[in-house]
Amino acid sequence: MTPPRDLDLVVYGATGFTGRQAAAYVARRGPPGLRWAVAGRDAARLAAVRGACAALVPPAGSAPAGPLPPDVLVADAHDARALDDLAARARVVLTTAGPYARHGSALVAACVARRADYVDITGETPWVRDLIDRHHAQAAADGTRVVPLCGFDSVPSDLGTWLLVEHFRGLGLATRRVRGAFRAGRGGLNGGTLASALALSEDREVARLRDPFLLNPPGTAPARGAGSRDRRGVTWDPDLRTWLAPFVMAPVNTRVVRRSAALWAQAGAPYGPDFAYEEALALARAPAAWAVAASMALADPLLRLAPARALARRLGPRPGEGPSEETMDRGWFASRYVGVAADGRRALAEVSGQGDPGNRATVTFLCEAALALACERDALPGGPARGGLLTPATAFGDVLVRRLRAAGVRLEVTPLGPS
Ligand SMILES: NC(=O)c1ccc[n+]([C@@H]2O[C@H](COP(=O)([O-])OP(=O)(O)OC[C@H]3O[C@@H](n4cnc5c(N)ncnc54)[C@H](OP(=O)(O)O)[C@@H]3O)[C@@H](O)[C@H]2O)c1
Repeated sequence: MTPPRDLDLVVYGATGFTGRQAAAYVARRGPPGLRWAVAGRDAARLAAVRGACAALVPPAGSAPAGPLPPDVLVADAHDARALDDLAARARVVLTTAGPYARHGSALVAACVARRADYVDITGETPWVRDLIDRHHAQAAADGTRVVPLCGFDSVPSDLGTWLLVEHFRGLGLATRRVRGAFRAGRGGLNGGTLASALALSEDREVARLRDPFLLNPPGTAPARGAGSRDRRGVTWDPDLRTWLAPFVMAPVNTRVVRRSAALWAQAGAPYGPDFAYEEALALARAPAAWAVAASMALADPLLRLAPARALARRLGPRPGEGPSEETMDRGWFASRYVGVAADGRRALAEVSGQGDPGNRATVTFLCEAALALACERDALPGGPARGGLLTPATAFGDVLVRRLRAAGVRLEVTPLGPS
């Protein structure tokens, strides 16, 4: 017999470094009466997380009221039966249990089977490609929203580009191209992020990682793909008045933005007939930009060597570890996007905020995406029936923009004069 769907949100992986922060975020900022649970594989450690969250939830009767204290659900990431029970009880599942290619597939399968909406913060694009091939058709038919890539990769790039497209659409114009540029920002590295990056370096499917249209629906990659090659060198950008170097996250973010463009086109709202997106790291001085380009060219083949990966594992943070509270609070991120419309008009989008990108910003993006599903599902783009393996822009659009602004993230568009 199917159990009742008695939970609005499940935070899975809640004992991990990011998962603990996500659970605390929901406890502090979740809406009144939210029925939710923390979940993972270790009952004792989950009980500790539950206790920490219960202390953050505003006491009953206080104003403003907060979510209910969380339940605890125990389910190993490889226990299909336990995950099925979990997904059957949840309206929305948020997961930080990664590396996702290692621990994530059974949970997605359970959510699709049980029609529970799903969000994560993976940056593992080959795994996402496999999810698309396995689950997109079923999730689209059922109206289940499965939305990976809701962390620092790739919410800023996807929403920054989408804001520009909407700005031009408001002027009756198609968008020809967008170029994103991230400043170096400040933050720290998590053990889970390092583990995922090193697992990707082991990936024998290097060709898939390099495919600029890896995440596109079948038949939607442009024949020429001009402007879609991953950057290797350094150039001067006259619009942003900065040097541009290769950006480590561009091979993820560009694929996500291109999938968004293709999905919006399929939904009858194309970005532009030959829309192109590229992304870079912005640096004030040319020597620094060339140093980044050279170190990225070296790091790629180096990390394919097992001894180099073993050394990185030994020297870097372990799973469950991450930067200090102070480092996370003092961190920041900033990205800018220059859009060019079909008639040559230009506009600038900015996505920036306080807090380190891999933790504070990522947790805000992820939790606000999950709460958008839990609290505002009917207002999401495409209405309640839209489903599939979606991107942040196609799943959440202006609902997430509004929620992130309310959470302190700057997301703005301003017209630019002629170049
Ligand atoms: N997109 C972004 O910007 C961004 C930013 C930060 C992190 N991430 C990604 O988020 C993921 C988590 O990072 P993190 O630093 O939080 O890692 P972490 O601290 O190592 O946490 C990993 C979580 O996965 C759980 N897990 C592992 N194996 C499991 C299993 N068999 N069954 C159930 N749960 C299992 C762990 O449970 P235990 O506690 O029981 O070991 C833990 O809760 C990584 O994939 C990372 O790349 C992405």
